[in-house]
Amino acid sequence: MESNRHNTNELNSEELLEIIFDYAAQITTENNVDRLLQLMADMGRKMTLADRCTLWLYDEAKDELWARVAHGLKEVHVPSSVGLAGAVFQSDEPLVIDDAYQDERFHSVIDAQTGYRTKSVMVLPVKNKQNKTIGVYQVINKLTEESVFHSKDLKYLSLAASYTGQALEAMLANIEIEETQKEILFKMGEIGEGRSKETGAHVKRVAEYAKLLALKAGLDEEEAELIKIASPMHDIGKVAIPDVVLNKPGKLTPDEFKMIQKHPKIGYELLNSSKRTILQTAAIIADQHHERWDGKGYPEGRSGENIHLYGRIVAIVDVFDALGSDRPYKEAWDLERILAYFREEKGRHFDPTLLDIFLAHLPEFLRIKEKYE
Ligand code: C2E
Ligand code: SIN
Ligand code: SIN
Ligand code: SIN
Ligand code: FE
Ligand code: FE
Repeated sequence: MESNRHNTNELNSEELLEIIFDYAAQITTENNVDRLLQLMADMGRKMTLADRCTLWLYDEAKDELWARVAHGLKEVHVPSSVGLAGAVFQSDEPLVIDDAYQDERFHSVIDAQTGYRTKSVMVLPVKNKQNKTIGVYQVINKLTEESVFHSKDLKYLSLAASYTGQALEAMLANIEIEETQKEILFKMGEIGEGRSKETGAHVKRVAEYAKLLALKAGLDEEEAELIKIASPMHDIGKVAIPDVVLNKPGKLTPDEFKMIQKHPKIGYELLNSSKRTILQTAAIIADQHHERWDGKGYPEGRSGENIHLYGRIVAIVDVFDALGSDRPYKEAWDLERILAYFREEKGRHFDPTLLDIFLAHLPEFLRIKEKYE
């Protein structure tokens, strides 16, 4: 978001209409939640000639308002009664304030964190079709010389609010669905691991490691997050393996290991039936997480870059976690032993480039390990 702190004149109605048409076209075709929120905030900012605009959404389950604040898409959560945003959410009445620091309801923590200086503020409720308040629009620092908001700004932002209210409601329903899907995936992953007496901590760690390695390998945030969401499912196929095999205290017989080796394909078949991106990604990971760079893995014996990058990423982090954990058949290895194994298996079990990236950032992986022990 660029800011334009030079002298700015109030919009005439033509300019206002232009902004509305411009954003309306984009908003109706945007299906990415973050970009949609960004568009709505930008629209509110432009319509009121504000330096910043934040769209706070109400999370009913947590009784919180949350928003992505300017620059860097950092998510901020506040109790639904806190700050000017909370005051408006509770009272359902708009607020126009010339200097936030003169108002004891103002919550200056965000300024303190960002180094930004809030002065004039205007906040108003955003309602859905049933007239229920689902969030608040907040614009900060009017860019005209006078630098305060007027009733005309309130009118403009109300217009934006009524327009975005419906789009927002549809979007919130989608967020709810997506969050539910993520939770279901995670729970299913836990079931897969739980069958082999592993805790949810394993899937959690593998997910965090996989995202970190994906980012370090140069994938963008969105793709790394996708891998994080999908990777907890890598062992879901273990649900079809008998307990006596999975939880066998000792070494497996060749026949038993053959049974185990079916879990990638079973997982793939379970997940591949859906066309959803998350589940398709999970299917690839389930299928290919036991392939080896040298082609001696299973189920297909793919080698090198014929193994999907996601499979190569999860192979490294899954083994890293498995070796560092107690299993019914083995005790956890110490870090030195794991690293010796990893160096030995570079270019054999593991993609050498990815393994180097992993080792180069080992301290960050160890921090995740500590956090989810
Ligand atoms: P898991 O326990 O989650 O292990 C995942 C992968 O980590 C293993 O895939 C292997 O590549 C690596 N790994 C884990 N422990 C060791 C170890 O002590 N030494 C070495 N060199 N690598 C290790 P893998 O071998 O394809 O096994 C897949 C799954 O089969 C394992 O998942 C586990 O559930 C089961 N499994 C493998 N070996 C045995 C065993 O000897 N006894 C029992 N009860 N289960 C086993
Ligand atoms: C508030 O609404 O008082 C807090 C939000 C902000 O500082 O931008
Ligand atoms: C890669 O997967 O791009 C790396 C190839 C290699 O390390 O040989
Ligand atoms: C890539 O394949 O996109 C680079 C990471 C790797 O070496 O696998
Ligand atoms: Fe596995
Ligand atoms: Fe695993």
